[in-house]
Amino acid sequence: MTKAMVSILMGSKSDWPIMEQAGLTLGSLEIPFEARVLSAHRTPDALFSYLETAESRGIEIFIAGAGGAAHLPGVIASKTLAPVIGVPMPSQALNGIDSLLSIVQMPAGVPVGTMGIGKSGATNAALFAAAILSLKYDHYRAQLDKYRKKQAQAILEVAHPAG
Ligand code: RP5
Repeated sequence: MTKAMVSILMGSKSDWPIMEQAGLTLGSLEIPFEARVLSAHRTPDALFSYLETAESRGIEIFIAGAGGAAHLPGVIASKTLAPVIGVPMPSQALNGIDSLLSIVQMPAGVPVGTMGIGKSGATNAALFAAAILSLKYDHYRAQLDKYRKKQAQAILEVAHPAG
């Protein structure tokens, strides 16, 4: 079995319909990943145990989705030197503005790269992870190039916006 290079973590199973987009995008780029539900406040010990072994198992980048107070990405970043990409969940009460502000406002010293709220953020988190991996692996640079060209082609093939 191929070893996962990207870890997709989320605070709740309810985040999966959004975070699935990160998995689908990594899959389309053939980047091996694993996905887990681990919460910074509901299961802190299990989260820390997971983080203790993740990098030695081959994880190079973390993508973390969280909603509301949304401390998961920051807590992950506190335990690793690997890049952490945060995805704010569209929370019910505040439509994800709470999640976004929480994730993006990391105090200086421990950064989290923050994407937009929701599915586009999850997709972009995967693409950003691919861009980071591209610095080291030519294969993923080629995959990313192919993805961009296919995306451009799909737009150019639209004969009429109503069609
Ligand atoms: C956060 O609380 C999760 O990331 C989720 O977005 C939010 C709500 O969780 P549930 O109450 O749906 O489990 O920890």
